[in-house]
Amino acid sequence: MVTATRTQVAIIGGGPAGLLLSHILQRNGIDSIVLERQSRRHVLERIRAGVLEAGTVALLREVGLGARMDREGHPHDGSAIAWEGRSRFFIDTKKFTGRAMMAYGQTAITEDLYAARDAAGGEIIDQAGNVQPHELTSSRPYVTYEKDGSSRRIDCDYVAGCDGYHGVSRSVIPAAVLRTYEKSYPFGWLGIMSETPPYKDICYCYHSRGFALASRRNPMLSRYYIQCDLDTKLADWPDDRFWREFKARCPRDMADCIVSGPSIEKSIAPLRSFVAEPMRYGKLFLAGDAAHIVPPTGAKGLNLAVSDVFYLSRALTEFYRTGRTRYLDGYSDTALRRVWSAARLSWWLTMLLHRFPAETPFEERMRLNQFDYLQASEHAQASLAEQYAGLPFEA
Ligand code: APR
Ligand code: PHB
Repeated sequence: MVTATRTQVAIIGGGPAGLLLSHILQRNGIDSIVLERQSRRHVLERIRAGVLEAGTVALLREVGLGARMDREGHPHDGSAIAWEGRSRFFIDTKKFTGRAMMAYGQTAITEDLYAARDAAGGEIIDQAGNVQPHELTSSRPYVTYEKDGSSRRIDCDYVAGCDGYHGVSRSVIPAAVLRTYEKSYPFGWLGIMSETPPYKDICYCYHSRGFALASRRNPMLSRYYIQCDLDTKLADWPDDRFWREFKARCPRDMADCIVSGPSIEKSIAPLRSFVAEPMRYGKLFLAGDAAHIVPPTGAKGLNLAVSDVFYLSRALTEFYRTGRTRYLDGYSDTALRRVWSAARLSWWLTMLLHRFPAETPFEERMRLNQFDYLQASEHAQASLAEQYAGLPFEA
């Protein structure tokens, strides 16, 4: 027997996009149910990026999720770039845009979201198997899933596909409708987390040995990355080797300040750009990684999930308040404009800051000249700062 329930918006995926959407919808009097494939523990243990744009920070505060972020996050006025053999350079977002950034991990945001959903009595069904949306072009869409050995069904007005890159939602859009754009980069990032005081700035290092990045989560938690080959094995990278390689890729004065220690997590992520268009199919709306992936350079992934959710929650709120579908109809185009801007920035930063295999001397000179231009030109700096701090949400 199939147990059936009803909600206004069925949300597939309980990552940051799905949880934030259900939180904002509830604040606007709209019911939703979140269906998450994994256990809550699994979701909370995932380690992802951790730099928030000013617009993300403002939105989280506005929807009542700012208290812990403001206590524990690290506000900063921009990030540094250290180029091998050149002097360090600061992308001053505060100076050029008046906007600061915030280092606050996605893991902490996910914890805050679960706490807020629990406090409000929000319904999140974890370990939901075989989730499938149906009848998306009809006036009666529904979602089926399996839980504890039984088949269940949720009838709804809309389905939000917030189930990440490997989710089911994007795959139900017919091939004749869906266009995808993709680029894989010939390297990955080997990242570690260590319970050590972080370096003073978030610092992107370009070096002939490869890219390196110093970042942070809190005053006693640091995040470091190095560019690695795609066939790299974690077993070949004991902590000592990681620290040695990291320090070899940053300027001497910076290397001397890095406090090393045992890693508490170590992982490898490939770099990829991916965009799916459109982000709507009938009653289904995609948000976050379900529709797009950016390489981590520039930390745009979570910020894009948040801007999608801002646009989608605004559209659904307007529909339920007034019956108007203007924002729902414009959702895909509006969200995609911001997605492509972030896709371009993270692609550009990735190209600027990494070593590519089989690069010609001409290409190396081009990259060096881009850096020199950035360092010398206030206009180039202002442009990068504007995009790094995050473009504003469209009215
Ligand atoms: N059914 C139900 N849930 C699913 C399914 C499915 N078929 N497939 C995936 N999920 C769940 C995943 O287990 C995950 O918890 O959907 C959730 C998607 O979460 P994320 O991958 O974190 O994606 P999103 O919420 O869009 O957040 C984007 O995550 O990957 C980072 O860089 C990205 O920071 C950005 C953020
Ligand atoms: C991170 O802290 O994980 C991070 C910071 C900045 C980036 C990417 C990742 O550009």
